Amino acid sequence: MSSKSSVFATVAYTPPDAIFELTKAYIADPDTRKVNLGQGTYRDGEGNPWVLPAVEAAKDAIKNCNHEYLPILGHPPFRQLVTELVFRKESTVISGGRVASCQALSGTGALHVAGMLLRRALGQDRTVYITNPSWSNHRQVFESVGFSVREFHYASRDGIDMESLLQALTEADPSSIFVLHASAHNPTGWDPSPEQWRQIAAIMKERSLFPLFDAAYLGLTSGDYEQDAYAIRYFAGELDLEMGVCISFAKSMGLYGERTGLCAFVSRNHNIANNVESSLAQLVRSEISNPPAFGARVVTAILANDGLSSQWRRDLTTMSSRISGMRKQLCDELTALDTPGDWRKIIQQKGMFCVLGLTPEQVHYLKEKYHIYMAESSRVSIAGLNEGNVRYVAECIHQVVCQPEE
Ligand SMILES: Cc1ncc(COP(=O)(O)O)c(C=O)c1O
Repeated sequence: MSSKSSVFATVAYTPPDAIFELTKAYIADPDTRKVNLGQGTYRDGEGNPWVLPAVEAAKDAIKNCNHEYLPILGHPPFRQLVTELVFRKESTVISGGRVASCQALSGTGALHVAGMLLRRALGQDRTVYITNPSWSNHRQVFESVGFSVREFHYASRDGIDMESLLQALTEADPSSIFVLHASAHNPTGWDPSPEQWRQIAAIMKERSLFPLFDAAYLGLTSGDYEQDAYAIRYFAGELDLEMGVCISFAKSMGLYGERTGLCAFVSRNHNIANNVESSLAQLVRSEISNPPAFGARVVTAILANDGLSSQWRRDLTTMSSRISGMRKQLCDELTALDTPGDWRKIIQQKGMFCVLGLTPEQVHYLKEKYHIYMAESSRVSIAGLNEGNVRYVAECIHQVVCQPEE
């Protein structure tokens, strides 16, 4: 190698992540009318980040904790309480010792470690199926651990495209992995009904497919954690399927930057779970040695205390009701303006997001002319709306929808 050539000469420039770039542009925008509907972070009625009262109290309760390393698999009471929360304390998968778990770097880290473990378990010839559209990071998380990723059509304008979903399940090779959004599908906001989940589960069981639940919005979708965990509990408890669950406390406790999550696998029996957990420990050790403590201590303080748990349930209701209230207001404003389009979908869809169905040109125009920021797909984070900006947003959408194409 000559002294002038670079070791990195073959490293191509990778464009930055679109949603984080959008937030950067929003922050830099000096216009006072600006509205950020890009990033999926909850905002209070004034448009500010919200520290949940339950989290505020938990931080106070743990203020004297030390800063020693956690065990490799994470904070033991955190792992126990979170698995009990997700699967139910009384569930047979818990009593049978069939859940292997490790703390992870929020939902993304949980998906990544799940991918690494599944690569070990199934080999690299398996395919990971994701919905189209899906969260923008799914493809690269699973490609980065060596899987090939395929998409199946998930939703039309009026809801889930069950036909294409069932077709993908029927045609996939056995042991293919299906990434399923446990609740609040990102970006479409369309979730299967309990009946549809049962149909999906039956085919997965019959065809030996592997369900990997991405559970980033439990509790925030309906305001009721149990209701949002329906599919996970049905697959694990009633259908007795082996599966993975990737849990995040970014949205459901507002611990975004603390990177607090859990990767859990349900396996056939306790011995297998033990082996899986030992493998998870090795993966974590080689990647991050041991996970961050603060967020796990906050979650533990909440889940271990009845009073704080009740407060957290109220906090979930506060967030989910404000979001559904804003869905209704946006829909009402657009309907009152007689804006062309079917806006009822805004109230029919669930969770933080809604896809408005605007063209990329219209999305661009909203940003450039009206300082309203959203993903190019016209996915909006409803949590970015409030009493002070919802009419403005509706009026601007009206303007771009009604203006003639140039
Ligand atoms: C569907 C979905 N999965 C996972 C995540 C991961 O979030 P985090 O890593 O912040 O927990 C997100 C975040 O937006 C998401 O929307």
